[in-house]
Amino acid sequence: MNTNIGVFEDRDVVREQQFGAIWRDLIPKVFADVPKYYDKGNAIASLGLMSLWSDRFVKNIKLPEGAIVLDVCTGTHEVARRLLKYNPNATVLAIDRSAEMIEEGQRVIAKTGLTIDATVGDVHTLPYDDASFDAVTLQFSTRHLRVVEVFREIYRVLKPGGVFYHSDMLRPSSIIIEKPYMWYLPLFLNLTATLMRSTEESRQCVTYFSESIKGYLTPAEMTELLRAIGFENIEEYSFMTGVFSRHSAQKPMTAK
Ligand SMILES: C[S@@+](CC[C@H](N)C(=O)[O-])C[C@H]1O[C@@H](n2cnc3c(N)ncnc32)[C@H](O)[C@@H]1O
Repeated sequence: MNTNIGVFEDRDVVREQQFGAIWRDLIPKVFADVPKYYDKGNAIASLGLMSLWSDRFVKNIKLPEGAIVLDVCTGTHEVARRLLKYNPNATVLAIDRSAEMIEEGQRVIAKTGLTIDATVGDVHTLPYDDASFDAVTLQFSTRHLRVVEVFREIYRVLKPGGVFYHSDMLRPSSIIIEKPYMWYLPLFLNLTATLMRSTEESRQCVTYFSESIKGYLTPAEMTELLRAIGFENIEEYSFMTGVFSRHSAQKPMTAK
């Protein structure tokens, strides 16, 4: 299968019509509220799986010596922190729209004596030169984004031969998994919101989190999108047909 990029651009248009207002207005408020309990909340909602998954995701990333890496939608530096843990000689930069999430991440990393160079900004336009990074990571955020636009930006800032590592909760490709998952998700997100005494905005997001999965990409579609952007050597690994899924994709050595 060789899907045209236009198919994915059209899907982004539909997703933006459906969720654009939430991305613009609600998501920033939610991520201003959650930093202090983000890690704990994830642990409860996923029964500890998210932290394990993040760790496995980063552990599998092979960086060249002295690599320069960018973590996109870094949040509280969940991925960026682990990148440094497993690659202490790497230089890690990070970007996120939420100053509050970054502030919490910086508070935590400061205790370790390590440094993450973080920028507050919208990832649809990355404020970095072309061909700047050996690797780019993006985890648990793509559903809030116009995917094609952001992936093109990631491709642009990667050096030729650089690798994009993506990790997310995608749309399960099996209906046997998707049905119970769609039942489980709102239930546990509501439970977590109650336990964490979340704000009204965070509670409103529970419906969005579930709804956004329905029109989202399956792991195979994610592979197709990466290929359509221009990446090669794409590898895909999924748990429960996509509930958790990770991809790696290389910018061709011959690319500009
Ligand atoms: C669920 S958190 C994931 C954080 C981190 N990657 C992780 O694995 O824990 C989603 C993050 O995406 C960020 N985000 C959402 N839309 C964004 C945008 N347009 N530009 C930059 N960051 C954005 C939010 O501020 C939030 O920190």
